[in-house]
Amino acid sequence: MSNAIVSHQSPLVELREVYKVYGTGQAKMQALAGVNLTINRGDFVAVMGPSGSGKSTCMNVLGCLDTPTSGQYLFDGIDVGTLSRDQLALLRRNYLGFIFQGFNLLNRTSALENVELPLIYRGLPAGVRRERALSALNVVGFEWLGSSHAR
Ligand SMILES: Nc1ncnc2c1ncn2[C@@H]1O[C@H](COP(=O)(O)OP(=O)(O)OP(=O)(O)O)[C@@H](O)[C@H]1O
Ligand SMILES: [Mg+2]
Repeated sequence: MSNAIVSHQSPLVELREVYKVYGTGQAKMQALAGVNLTINRGDFVAVMGPSGSGKSTCMNVLGCLDTPTSGQYLFDGIDVGTLSRDQLALLRRNYLGFIFQGFNLLNRTSALENVELPLIYRGLPAGVRRERALSALNVVGFEWLGSSHAR
């Protein structure tokens, strides 16, 4: 997979009949039962449901942190199930981002540095990293975190 996988034609995210089964035998638990989902570029989507309904399981699949038991996950038309570990790592690094409920920020670095961190793995130079991190903070109204280097 090259870095330029985005074709702008297929939906960005597509789940087709996705099942996820945890455990075996008596302990078997079907967390996802044939989920079909299409998310297009620019869509803003909330996954809602009662506790235990499979939201986290679904997010883990979408974030390429876990694989479905059966069914297909297409990211920009590419069947994620066919990607190697390295290709999956590239997909996560270049296209997927997480904000966890518990934040999972690094305490010893500033807010700005936390935002910049994934861009280090992407190999971007320091100046570009800072610029992008500041603009990302700006988008969510947190630009003051960048200017004060707040912790
Ligand atoms: N690693 C696992 N092993 C076994 N069963 C699991 C595992 N993870 C989740 N489950 C089960 O799968 C079902 C879906 O769980 P999931 O965590 O996806 O639900 P959720 O919608 O995120 O719930 P919550 O709102 O409580 O976070 C639940 O019955 C849960 O007990
Ligand atoms: Mg959950």
